[in-house]
Amino acid sequence: MSELIRFGVSIDGDLLEKFDKQIEKKGYKNRSEAIRDLIRDHLVEEEWAKDEEIVGTITVVYDHHTPDLNQNMTHIQHSFTGEIKSVLHIHMDHHNCLEVLVVKGQGHLVQSLADQLIALRGIKHGKLTMTTTGEAIPSSAGHHANGHEHSH
Ligand code: NI
Repeated sequence: MSELIRFGVSIDGDLLEKFDKQIEKKGYKNRSEAIRDLIRDHLVEEEWAKDEEIVGTITVVYDHHTPDLNQNMTHIQHSFTGEIKSVLHIHMDHHNCLEVLVVKGQGHLVQSLADQLIALRGIKHGKLTMTTTGEAIPSSAGHHANGHEHSH
């Protein structure tokens, strides 16, 4: 673990107020924790952008009565058998289904799979969430090793 560094940030007062309200709702105890998570989030996205192997989930919500939709979804998924590790399907109500695909593979392939699924007619909402094993990213563990921090 590397040394803990303090740095100052100049920021618009209104913006900081909104940020503080939001992070309080999310349960952060101080700004430092929230900012560290934002930076880590950003670094994860950058790592993905470099097209390293990523893991993630693709979530789609759709009306299963939409003509051809089930067939089209199955067809696309059969083109990504290497990337799809697991599929969870929930019948939410009479019309709507929720499907969550757990995916692992090259970033551009996983993105392509998500794009194709989400673009299908009848998909009401779709989202790809990516993460990595994070080997190159310092974890949150150990950040409090140097003692308490206060959000002054
Ligand atoms: Ni269903």
